[in-house]
Amino acid sequence: MERNIPRLLLIHLIFVVLSTRPCAATPGLSVLKVVPISNPYSWAVAQNYCRWHHSDLITIRTQQQADELAPYEGWIGLYSDTSSPEWKWSRGDERATFFNWDSNEPDPSHHCVLMHNSAPKWKSEDCSSSQPFLCDEGLILVQENKTWEEALVHCTQLEAAGSTTRPYQLAILSEPNDNLMDTEKIRLNATTYEVWVGLRFLAGDWLWMSPNTPASSDLPQCLAEQQHCGSLVPRNTEWKIMSCSEKRNFLSSRRPTK
Ligand SMILES: *[C@@H]1O[C@H](CO)[C@@H](O)[C@H](O)[C@H]1NC(C)=O
Ligand SMILES: *[C@@H]1O[C@H](CO)[C@@H](O)[C@H](O)[C@H]1NC(C)=O
Repeated sequence: MERNIPRLLLIHLIFVVLSTRPCAATPGLSVLKVVPISNPYSWAVAQNYCRWHHSDLITIRTQQQADELAPYEGWIGLYSDTSSPEWKWSRGDERATFFNWDSNEPDPSHHCVLMHNSAPKWKSEDCSSSQPFLCDEGLILVQENKTWEEALVHCTQLEAAGSTTRPYQLAILSEPNDNLMDTEKIRLNATTYEVWVGLRFLAGDWLWMSPNTPASSDLPQCLAEQQHCGSLVPRNTEWKIMSCSEKRNFLSSRRPTK
């Protein structure tokens, strides 16, 4: 009887290990950041472009997101197969449940979707027509507390979700008050006041952890001891410089193409 207990424990342990998904499968919470591309292309070329350079064509899941995107126009990720009337999002072929159709839309003969800025509503369109388009940068909020360096490593180990395989890194952001980014979602969901981004003071200069990305000019040049890593404060959309050993949530983004 007594010898059975460790065996039971072992079986239980094996079961727990087998039923635990690898952490790479749940990378974090995706945060919308729109990248408007004005060059007109067909929907399929636009999809490829977004997948290669960012993450995918944008997915819009709520009325609030649809309203925030009102100033922009172009292809969005919504499409239907010619064989099925079901609408899906390009990212992960997710079945669409939210729609923002214009009146008399969609036209059953068209299988791709365009957003107009004159009427911020959706219109089905011939997929081969050339249109500007809206990519999603593919930001991920990781709700774990890590030092800046642990966060850097964690991001590079994230598995690229969906059909693309671009690796991740600590996020590169142009401005803290980037109005194309869903900062509200970061603010509401981050469990720490600041979130790490890929900003680091090295050899006398502020650097983004990415080639060809100049750092913003509004960063302090005179640093307190050990305050060498950059974070975003989503509550007041400012950069904040902190000690790299502080543990915070962090933002990951796909590594840009060279
Ligand atoms: C991270 O830190 C915050 C603030 O200290 C805390 O509220 C939160 O529970 C921590 N999260 C995890 C996953 O430990
Ligand atoms: C993020 O925060 C919003 C607002 O509090 C909440 O509705 C949503 O469920 C949160 N998302 C996740 C995945 O926790």
